[in-house]
This record gives sequence, C-alpha cells and structure tokens, in this order.
Amino acid sequence: MARSRWYKDMVFYQIWPRSFKDGNGDGMGDLWGVLEKLDYIQSLGCDGIWFSPIYPSPGADCGYDIADYMDIDPQFGGMEAFQKVLEGCHQRGMKLVMDLVVNHTSDEHEWFQKSRQRIDPYTDYYIWRPAREDGKLPNNWDSNFEGKAWTFDEVRGEYYLHLFAVKQPDLNMDNPLVREEVKKILRFWLDMGVDGFREDVITYISKKEGLPDDHLFPIYKGMPCYNHGPHIHEYLAEFKRDVFDHYDCFTLAEAPLVWPKRALKYIDEEQGQLDMMIQFQCQCADCLFTDYLPTKFSLHRMKHAFSSWQKKLWGKAWNMLYLENHDHPRIISRYGSEQYWKQSGKTLAAAMLFQQGTPFIYQGQEIGMLNWQPESADMYEDVQTRYNYAHSNLSKPEDVRLKKMWRSSRDSARTPVQWDDSENAGFTTGTPWFYVNRNYREINVAQQESDPDSILHFYRKAIHLRKELPVVRHGQYREHFFLNGKVYCYSRKMVGEKLLVICSFTEKGTKAKFPAGFDKSTAQCILHNYPDFDSTTLRPYECRVYLWEE
Ligand code: GLC
Repeated sequence: MARSRWYKDMVFYQIWPRSFKDGNGDGMGDLWGVLEKLDYIQSLGCDGIWFSPIYPSPGADCGYDIADYMDIDPQFGGMEAFQKVLEGCHQRGMKLVMDLVVNHTSDEHEWFQKSRQRIDPYTDYYIWRPAREDGKLPNNWDSNFEGKAWTFDEVRGEYYLHLFAVKQPDLNMDNPLVREEVKKILRFWLDMGVDGFREDVITYISKKEGLPDDHLFPIYKGMPCYNHGPHIHEYLAEFKRDVFDHYDCFTLAEAPLVWPKRALKYIDEEQGQLDMMIQFQCQCADCLFTDYLPTKFSLHRMKHAFSSWQKKLWGKAWNMLYLENHDHPRIISRYGSEQYWKQSGKTLAAAMLFQQGTPFIYQGQEIGMLNWQPESADMYEDVQTRYNYAHSNLSKPEDVRLKKMWRSSRDSARTPVQWDDSENAGFTTGTPWFYVNRNYREINVAQQESDPDSILHFYRKAIHLRKELPVVRHGQYREHFFLNGKVYCYSRKMVGEKLLVICSFTEKGTKAKFPAGFDKSTAQCILHNYPDFDSTTLRPYECRVYLWEE
C-alpha cells in the first residue's frame, strides 16, 4: 500500500495516562478522562495522540512492563473506553498512536511464566543463561534502571536478561516465534483502526551473538552490544514488509545514542524501515547522555543538536521534534528560567515549533508546567529514580541529593496535569495516585484559557501558524549566529516565502542582530512574547517570528 506520510502535516500530543485526567474519580488518570479532553487537545491544533502504554500491567515501570499486549488495562477503562476514544479521535479527524514495547515484557506476562517453567513454545522466548563457571553473572552488562542486567530465577534455575527493571525481562527477538508474536500484536491494533506506533527502545532488540562482556563503556555497560545490534535492520524490515507496508500507518522509533548518520539507516525515506526517530541529542544540552549526569545548560549544545538534525535529515528523512516527554524533567526548569517562566516557556515553544518535522507536545508542556520538587525522597515512585537516589551521591548531604533528583528525575514531569485551581488541580475528585505540584493555583489550564497572553495561547498561535505557512513544512533550514551563546536564530526559506525565528536564552537583555539580507521594513513580526519590541535589543527570553515574501 502506498504510504501517504500524513504525519508530516500533523502535531501530536503525548498522553501519559496515569496523570492526564481522571474520569471516574478513583484518583488514577484514565481513558474516560481523555474522552472529556479530546476537544481541548484538538483546540491546541493537535491532530494526533500518542498514548504511553495503556495495556494491562503490574506497573513496575508505569505500564512499560506489559502483561497482556492485546487488551486495555481496566484501571484505564478497558477496551470499552478505548473504543470510544478511538472513535472520538477519528470523528474529529485525529489520529491515535500506541506505544509498542517489545524489547521486554512484564515478568507477569504469561509468556514469561511459561518460559521459566520451560513450557514450549515459550522456553526460548526470553534470554536465559546459566551462571559462568566461576559462578559469576553471564556477562558484565548493566541494566538501564537497577544494577546488573541479570537476575536469577529460582523456578528455571537460570539467569534472565533485563536491560531495564528486574520485572522487565528482555524478549529473545532472535526467536522467529517471538517476531511472529510482535506481528500479531501490530495487526491486532492496526486492524482495530489504530494509526501507528511509537516503538519503545526499539534499537535494543537485537543483541550481539554470544552476549560478550563489554570493555568499552564505563557506565551502561553492554550498550555497544545491544544498541543497533547485528540483526536490527533485518528484523525491522521484516515487520515493515509483513505488517506496516499493508497499512497506511506510521512508526516512530525511540533510539538512545543515535546521531543523524546512523538514524538515516533507519528512517531514510527510500530505504529505511521506520518513519521517524526520537533522538536524545536534543535532551543533552544540560547533561551528559542522561539526566542523571547533569551539567550546566549550554545553548551551543542545544543549537548544535537542533541544527545538525535539521540539516542532515533534509531531503532524506523526516524529523520528530520534541522538548519534553515522560522520561525527562520539565523543559522550562532545564533549558529556560523559572524566574522568566512565561517568557522562556514561549521562547522554547518558538525554538521548536518552526523547525521542519512533526512536533510532539507532552501533556502540561503547553501550560509551562515546572519540575515537581518533593520534600523527601521516599515520595518518588519511579523505579529508575529510586535506584539512582539510593546509589548515587551518598557522601553528599540529604538536601543536596534531593535537589539533584528534582533536576534529574522522570517523576519531575509525571505529576497530574493542572487543569484548574480547585482541589487536586481538577485532575480528580478522588485521592490522586501521585502528588500534585504545589504551584497548581498559579499554573493551570483554566487560568491560561482566560489569559490571552498565556503560554497556552502562544502554543495555539504557533501551531496555527505552522499549519498555515507552507514554509514551515517545506522551507530549507539555516542557523544564524551559531557562535552566539545567548541567542538561537534560524530561518526557513522557500521560493516566495521566508521565516526568521529569533529566541533569546538569557535572563539579561542582549543585542538584537538580524542576518544579512533580512529586510525589517518588509518583514512582518507574526509572533512575539513581549507586547512591544524594538530593533536593537532583545529582553530576557524574548522571541520573535518574522515572515516576509520575496
Ligand atoms: C523507554 C520509555 C521509558 C521506559 C523504558 C523501558 O525509554 O520511554 O519510559 O521506562 O523505555 O521500557
């Protein structure tokens, strides 16, 4: 079937279901809540939704540990609520994308329960190994979340591999039967009308033969042996050939440690096996590889990441654009300024939304939600945060350790969406499953709906403009003043139409500079975050978008 690549004109909204909106008063976000908010999502100009996992799951990694791939968790409203949401999306002309998590399952999945008892055909569905002769673990790999990547299973009498939590055993994708199961799952949802998949850590699914020790990486040991592994392109091509090619759907691959050159092997429009890629480079302007190794924010690093993906994918592949998701702390708290909350929230929006690609907005980003700052570490839920807290910076005082977690934890961005200033921020009428950020009386959707100058309305305007202007889809990207450490400035250009985006990233004023050839007298400033502006100065986190015709 010919792929229409409809995703190129769209803007997606990511829902992390537990914290989006509770519709039945039990304190947990659910699909009834989503149903109530479909019009709101559409009012932003978003025409697609990506759901983080909503399948039955014991919740060891908030749903990324799946116990049944072909059902919807009753706590989210089950299949009945899901069908309604799917219909609701399609009636509004919106698309719905599911999360496909097949690097691993939950240890409570039936396949794992049978595999540990060596019941065929499940015996080799997972990666089992005995201890080494000297009694050591099968290899030296680390798990991404909790210590070493191997746990001994008493029932089977062997170790199983888990690149994430202990309760997330890795599937053995080299087994053709497992690949057939994946295809069954894909067809099940596509036949129901789902429009595509975000594929969780999909670049990890093929492990190097023999599972050798890793002598390269000092942390995340093992990653060179499973990220972009030996059969990855072959398996992805098989899924494409046998399933995706038969549907007008799209695929978005999550890919840790990937640069544009490698990405093209996956998403080149002629030869790739997938459509778009979630890269992590844009998340590393204030950390080294992971949020848990924070560094000072560097505008240069952010600009370099943006520009390199824009330029290297140009004409060959399509970018996925994002600043936030459920795996990273809130972007204003990281790349912007809580002091200049409103201005920096808007500048960050403008920095991203006029690039070429398909933007994904994470729930709460559109109102500038900030990092959650718990008073004590035992308030954290996230498996990765808990492990990191218990094992790092042990010699430092408690308050210093806690502050580091505010900055690094995934839970910083997982608190309930702040809908209004009523109790529990209007998220639930019951007792919320998780803490609500204390600032909900100041930062909430209802307040911003009534304020024409809000971050929310800025997102609406920016999204509206990007849909209206062909140059945002087609124009060539160019970065200006790349040595400037205070301003991000880029233009988009196509025959007849040009766009210039200027974003200041400093709490002090700075000089306004315009690239050669830019004619202020004919250009029109179509979006800005201060009521007035002049041609010589940029105020803290000021942004402007200019349009002119040639
Ligand atoms: C991905 C998900 C993350 C999850 C992990 C393991 O990175 O985005 O939330 O914990 O994979 O499935």
